[in-house]
Amino acid sequence: MCGIIGYIIKEGGEKNLAPILINGLRRLEYRGYDSAGLSVINAKGEVLKEKSVGKIDSLVEKLKDQEFIGTLGIAHTRWATHGGVTESNTHPHTDCSGRIILVHNGIIENYRDLREKFLKDHNFVSETDTEVLAHLIEYFYTQTNKKDLRGSLIKALQLVVGTYGIAVVSLDEPNKIICARKGSPLVLGVADDAFLIASDASPLLPHTKKVIYLEDGEILELTPKDFQIFNLKDEKIARTPEEIEWNEEQAQKGGFPHFMLKEIFEQPNTFKDALAGRLVPNDGVAHLGGLRLTDEELRQIKKIKIIACGSAFHAGLVGKYILEHVAWMPTDVEVASEFRYRDPVVEDNTLTICISQSGETADTLGALIEARRKGSKVMGIVNVVGSTIAREAGRGVYIHAGPELSVASTKAFTNQVAILMVLALQLGRLTHLPLATGKLIIKSILEIPAKMQEIIKQNEVIKNIAEKYKAYEDFYFIGRGINAPIALEGALKLKEISYVHAEGMPSGELKHGPIALIDDKCPVMAIVTKDSLYEKMVSNVEEIKARHGKLILIATEGDEDVKKLSDDIIYIPKTSEMLSPLLTVVPMQLFAYHMAVLRGKDVDRPRNLAKSVTVE
Ligand code: F6R
Repeated sequence: MCGIIGYIIKEGGEKNLAPILINGLRRLEYRGYDSAGLSVINAKGEVLKEKSVGKIDSLVEKLKDQEFIGTLGIAHTRWATHGGVTESNTHPHTDCSGRIILVHNGIIENYRDLREKFLKDHNFVSETDTEVLAHLIEYFYTQTNKKDLRGSLIKALQLVVGTYGIAVVSLDEPNKIICARKGSPLVLGVADDAFLIASDASPLLPHTKKVIYLEDGEILELTPKDFQIFNLKDEKIARTPEEIEWNEEQAQKGGFPHFMLKEIFEQPNTFKDALAGRLVPNDGVAHLGGLRLTDEELRQIKKIKIIACGSAFHAGLVGKYILEHVAWMPTDVEVASEFRYRDPVVEDNTLTICISQSGETADTLGALIEARRKGSKVMGIVNVVGSTIAREAGRGVYIHAGPELSVASTKAFTNQVAILMVLALQLGRLTHLPLATGKLIIKSILEIPAKMQEIIKQNEVIKNIAEKYKAYEDFYFIGRGINAPIALEGALKLKEISYVHAEGMPSGELKHGPIALIDDKCPVMAIVTKDSLYEKMVSNVEEIKARHGKLILIATEGDEDVKKLSDDIIYIPKTSEMLSPLLTVVPMQLFAYHMAVLRGKDVDRPRNLAKSVTVE
């Protein structure tokens, strides 16, 4: 995720565009805040540009006392995916000549192939996938004397695999901004005195409420006179602006009332981003480039230790089941705050994986350093690029969930599990896993986003269930096997944002004590999906029913039998057992969210908590 804004003055006037672009970036800062930059073109066809590492304020500091008088401009706030947080990786990026200038949101998955195939003699100054796009446009732009930025962009995009929201300008056609969208949002704003383009509607609102949401595969050409929309065959498409009702804050949240709900709803897309460029379906294999271990070194790993806190710890617990089942890899999972205060024995050929959304959690960082001291290879599974854990680990994998602003982790959790699945597949295929199984796993993984979407569609059903249970003060969450950690995660979500007491546990543990508390005042949310432990789960559910416990079941669609045992039921699509946590967790997230809203809590900023926990 990154934020893009573009502005072109109607009728070709000039003015200082820096404050307009900066104000736009500020409204997009939630989409990325590790570096920012802007380029403005003036009436003489010259470019004025500035970039800065850090939040928008550091760019503002650099722009102090400068005026960027021009006719059009593009700007970007970055959330690093490819390449660290440096000024050279900050957008806008240019071609060799510096005359084609581009900002991009998304991931160009095949950027290495494109560079190798078409751009061997080009000079690159950054490590980003985006810069390849600028050079690829140059590749086509310079093939004829006719300067055709739109045509060159279209030709480039036909070669691109990945997602993009793009705004590009050329000093040879200084009166145009060309934009394109696939998988990364772009909204056109039609104001009285300008046309604007942005990653969401919030930066447009001070200028206009007339907008057009670009569709995937659409190309937009902005000139001082008008806007035109084309498809990827360069055929014109007629679109008329619509009026938006939102205020700025609503727009930033994409119309969602809270970031948490927005982030839950984003999961089908963020999950795809986690996988981008990492799976090879035809070979049934996976590659995590950031591991920086050869196949031979990977084969030598005999044990994995996962260390993390909170939701990331729960993702690690799911990972244990996956790594042991798919990769036959002995795996331990440990809470980071405990690891370095006991005497951890790190066996030879151990890989320690530290999972952290923020990459700043003090306990996890401390554990990483301790594991390395004891001789383990270490790696991070991290969301925030360039964060301390990512840098300290030296090797690792970014989960590409985009900024997670709600304190309660949702999309980072599913992406952490996604990466553990990809890792297990990579390891498994290097040892015992046959091609056919690898292919089957990838097929099932690729079906997950659509299945997540099916669950998200039941948001209202889950809200109605929360309405029924909103006054209860105690909950149990249970599951078995790979869904036991999801019971822990469901309970954590509920308690942290709604302040309702909740306990999660493997359902087999109920009879060893907790069942004593079951009565009609302690509802139980149980994961009873059709898997290898289904019958055992059904027995546990029967035991609860016999003690008058209220049952909210998460079950596989079509399972009418279990419905008879439930007070309420949420159906989820069928998937393979190993991938089921990616689906079972979604209703838990939505249930916790609605409980918190209905109880009037501050969902995105729950009391006593912080998004990144940098103290022990
Ligand atoms: C729960 C939650 C926390 C974090 C934990 C670790 O919703 O967000 O439990 O998972 O504080 O944080 P990171 O992943 O940043 O290390």
